Amino acid sequence: MGNKWFETVAVAQRRAQRRLPRSVYGALIAGSEKGLSALDNLDAFDELGFAPHVAGAPESRDLSTTVLGQAVSMPVVLSPTGVQAVHPQGEVAVARAAAARGVLMGLSSFASQPIEAVTRVHGQVLFQLYWSGTRDEMIQRLERARAAGAVGVILTLDWSFAHGRDWGSPWIPERMDLRAMVRLAPEALARPAWTWSFAKTGHLPSLSTPNLAAPGAPAPTFFGAYGEWMQSPPASWQDVAWLVAQWGGPLLVKGVCRVDDAKRVVDAGATALSVSNHGGNNLDGTPASIRALSAIAEAVGDEVEVLVDGGVRRGGDVVKALALGARAVMIGRAYLWGLAANGQAGVENVLDVLRGGIDSTLRGLGRASVGELGREDVVVPPGFTRSLGS
Ligand SMILES: Cc1cc2nc3c(=O)[nH]c(=O)nc-3n(C[C@H](O)[C@H](O)[C@H](O)COP(=O)(O)O)c2cc1C
Repeated sequence: MGNKWFETVAVAQRRAQRRLPRSVYGALIAGSEKGLSALDNLDAFDELGFAPHVAGAPESRDLSTTVLGQAVSMPVVLSPTGVQAVHPQGEVAVARAAAARGVLMGLSSFASQPIEAVTRVHGQVLFQLYWSGTRDEMIQRLERARAAGAVGVILTLDWSFAHGRDWGSPWIPERMDLRAMVRLAPEALARPAWTWSFAKTGHLPSLSTPNLAAPGAPAPTFFGAYGEWMQSPPASWQDVAWLVAQWGGPLLVKGVCRVDDAKRVVDAGATALSVSNHGGNNLDGTPASIRALSAIAEAVGDEVEVLVDGGVRRGGDVVKALALGARAVMIGRAYLWGLAANGQAGVENVLDVLRGGIDSTLRGLGRASVGELGREDVVVPPGFTRSLGS
């Protein structure tokens, strides 16, 4: 067996593409409509540059910080992703990797593994939920997460239910029955390593959402859960404040792009927010989140922790985000590609690639810690910043 270690996230992505059935890989690429926001998330990081020092750098660098009150080894959080069929151990493998590398993990309410199995292997899990279902159902899900030991909650608010992609969406079955297996067989047979990884466990991807099950009831299917969410009336700011109060602990509102919304997140009593366009999977044409970051960090950075996600692929991207005012970044596709490429070790590999990149960038900038980073460390081209709703 060849060396499974990969040196960059781009290499992990290529391996994931080679290993995963076409539909599963397509579900990870995601994006919406024309893919403008997904692309801008990547392009915007490339527009930023660095202002390095050549001498006087400290001998060692400190990457550790705290996020939502949790001590973490570096400013990178695994963002919640509801992707079911990447790896048989799914979110448990991700959680083991997060524990091994000392980072926080967000667990999607659309995850394939029950939260109890995830918190058993990692003590720093944030449970993510959408504004979906009745208030009683939301309370029941929060209480289950609390009982399981979640250290915080992520409330994801940005979703427009955009459907249709110019490059075509993968077919995802309601459940893995005989009909679905026959239809997906050619793809699965073309990817024998992936197929064997599931076959040897004796289980097919379940495509259900165990964390949304009512007590004693079977888990809803992925599409059942999606349907509930689509039919739920959108949250008001009073609803957000209500949920913050129900949880009563660290809570991050995910998906903020505008300064006026960021101020309302503060008013609702949340601990943190993430500047995010859902990895470009939401309202296509929303600017890259890194472009919207500095205006939000300047407006509310003293009152809530400001995180950012979308397009982070290397340690240098993490440093750019911190220099523009983020406390930490969240990553999605990068760790999913690592998981697809090599399971738990692949997620650890991605985290190590980012850690190495953050460390070498700090060295180039002559900084002793992530906390020292500031605007003077990066080159921001004219017209880069988007100050939405200020
Ligand atoms: C395949 C996929 C599934 C996702 N599922 C969820 C989810 O269930 N809940 C959520 O809050 N965000 C979800 N996201 C968004 C991520 O948490 C994150 O915001 C995004 O992936 C960041 O962009 P990046 O992939 O470029 O790092 C998903 C993203 C992808 C790519």
